[in-house]
Amino acid sequence: MDLREEILRLKEEKNAVILTHCYQNVEIDDVSDFVGDSLYLSRAAAKTDAKIIVFAGVYFMAQSAKLLSPEKKVLLPNINSGCLMSDMIDVNNLKQFKEQYPDIPVVCYVNSTAEVKAHCDICCTSSNAIEIVKSLNTNKVLFVPDTYLGKWVETKLKNVEVITFNGFCPTHLRIRTTDIEKAREQYPEALILAHPECHTEISKLADFVGSTKDIMEFAKKSSKKQFVIATELGVVERLNRDSKLYNWNKEFILINPNIICPNMKQNTLEDIYNVLLNETNEITISDEIRKRAVVSIERMLKVGTNRK
Ligand code: 13P
Ligand code: SF4
Repeated sequence: MDLREEILRLKEEKNAVILTHCYQNVEIDDVSDFVGDSLYLSRAAAKTDAKIIVFAGVYFMAQSAKLLSPEKKVLLPNINSGCLMSDMIDVNNLKQFKEQYPDIPVVCYVNSTAEVKAHCDICCTSSNAIEIVKSLNTNKVLFVPDTYLGKWVETKLKNVEVITFNGFCPTHLRIRTTDIEKAREQYPEALILAHPECHTEISKLADFVGSTKDIMEFAKKSSKKQFVIATELGVVERLNRDSKLYNWNKEFILINPNIICPNMKQNTLEDIYNVLLNETNEITISDEIRKRAVVSIERMLKVGTNRK
């Protein structure tokens, strides 16, 4: 049986779409309808009129799709595909954090559960975090769960204090300043492009900091030929594939061979086939949580409506 063909056939038969994050195993792109970063995929989930969404990503991403499309079946290919950062905050410690700093709006990175989103004011992704904090027109915000993204946003805004929860991404924190030093030595002509989930010291040393989509767009447009990438392997694989495919003649190097998110890599073509066939691993969210959580995502999408 050709898995790819079977998936494509099932998609058509069942009116399903496959949304794929760019940290997923790269072969999943061949059967996908949308491939991109969290913001792009949230928008795609909000717009699609398919009956079934298969979310090749991690749990919180599939949950966000379900929040935006409650009438659709949202399936996660491998149910163990969680995000370690999103698991670092729950409603109890969020409440404690808010009690410590009362009456300050709470911005919630999309890498969080629906339950946590239900207790925040507005969501953001790494693509729009600066824009979202700015939209609040305030000089103080609470930012959960990623301390490094929150602190990076603070450096980009004048007169806004960003008070962060102490969550982090274990994968991005594996990138060390020594990796940057080595890369500068080994690839003196290359630009270093980093994700804002990296440690503040890395963001300071990089030539460009942005979300996965921003990194990919920057690399595509740049006149440089060599890039060291300080984010997950999936981005490097996609960039090298596209460079070959479209004759960019560019080279992309992963900053350190360990920058692989084990959870993102759990979904396989076989898992996608199985969930499509059996309609298993369905994401469910109680109405009560959904009604509260969706508000923060919809507020985010509204702020972003003028952005491409
Ligand atoms: P993006 O929002 O850039 O897609 O990143 C999601 C993520 O989980 C990064 O670790
Ligand atoms: Fe979560 Fe980090 Fe994996 Fe992104 S790379 S999904 S933040 S654990």
